[in-house]
Amino acid sequence: MADAAIDTVTSVPVVVVGAGPAGLMLAHLLGRAGVETIAIDTRTRHEIETTQRAGILEADAARDLIETGVSDRILRDGYEHEGVELRFGGRPHRINFKELVGESVWLYPQTDVFIDLADARDRDGGTVHFGIKDTEVLDIATDSPRVRCTATDGMRHEIRARYVVGADGSRSMCRDLVPEDRRVRYAKEYPFAWFGIMTEAPMSAPELVYAHSEHGFALVSQRTETVQRMYFQCDPDESVDTWTDDRIWETLQARVAGEDGFRLKEGPIFEKTVLRFRSFVQEPMRRGSMALAGDAAHTVPPTGARGLNLALHDVKVLAGVLLRALGSEGEAALDDYQPRALQRVWRAQNFSYWMTQLLHTAPGSTPFDLRRQLGELDNVVGTRAGRTYLAEQYTGWPTSTLG
Ligand code: PHB
Repeated sequence: MADAAIDTVTSVPVVVVGAGPAGLMLAHLLGRAGVETIAIDTRTRHEIETTQRAGILEADAARDLIETGVSDRILRDGYEHEGVELRFGGRPHRINFKELVGESVWLYPQTDVFIDLADARDRDGGTVHFGIKDTEVLDIATDSPRVRCTATDGMRHEIRARYVVGADGSRSMCRDLVPEDRRVRYAKEYPFAWFGIMTEAPMSAPELVYAHSEHGFALVSQRTETVQRMYFQCDPDESVDTWTDDRIWETLQARVAGEDGFRLKEGPIFEKTVLRFRSFVQEPMRRGSMALAGDAAHTVPPTGARGLNLALHDVKVLAGVLLRALGSEGEAALDDYQPRALQRVWRAQNFSYWMTQLLHTAPGSTPFDLRRQLGELDNVVGTRAGRTYLAEQYTGWPTSTLG
């Protein structure tokens, strides 16, 4: 494909590979500062809009979306959650974020964040090409990198830029461009996955419920007054086809059951997916004229609701650094990106891992393991230090204290 004729050649200061929330937020932040970008994505806009992703935004991320003019729809369609419930031993235990750390989170699905950002790019005249093919990222070790791709109409484009940002998600092709002898990949696999459902039912609880049980983990989340999102721990190789609605509800009900008589409000299930997950970080997050952001550089298990928040933090830092690099400081400014982004990445890696091991039942776990977990959970909810730790980590860390 490299030799196929090029139909157009365009130049912009920054080309963004990947037009999910990370890529589009970066383009939005740069656009506000007068820097033109072109963002490209292999997926169609419809595909991105209809793929269910996580639903929790930390307060800082919500504020950034509102205050930078992406949209204030979150205030109308989102739900502010001032706490979260941990259920174990058949009892509810609420962690009150507001009281403990003065912060809250917002239930606002990632698909809505994406829609708001894509609309904002349209409104502001930003260039985004969805559904492109044959992407090639060239010359990142030089100061004139290029991206070539084929648009939906078959036209072959070359985009020349000063910087390239790889925000192309957990199956990133950009991260592979960092040569093997110049990168380290840290990864951890888990022996379980999440079975996620969407159901047409009223809310079962006003806030998220993270449930530990001897049968395994379950999470009760929400979307709207009439549509709910729930998950339960399953085998990574589980097939959704063998799960009838009845069997799913029976499994979920057993995992949240308790002496308080709590029951989920059931309804028709209209989506079922098995979500495999792992912990992953690639370092460095930059090579020459290319920086990696969001899932392209790191993924976390969904248990701590950190993934999207981490991606938005990356691009906030990266936007500032790129503006300096494009100004008088030049490429040296990019040296500040990784230290500032990575501190939060590893904090989030730890928190996501910790929440995962706290709440899931590993295959082959013994009665000792279960009792020890209950002891840990009791330490979390039963001590102020434990509650505060969870509240602080879950609501995120302010950008200003890092780096
Ligand atoms: C969701 O609403 O999809 C969700 C919420 C919290 C998580 C993961 C997923 O930790």
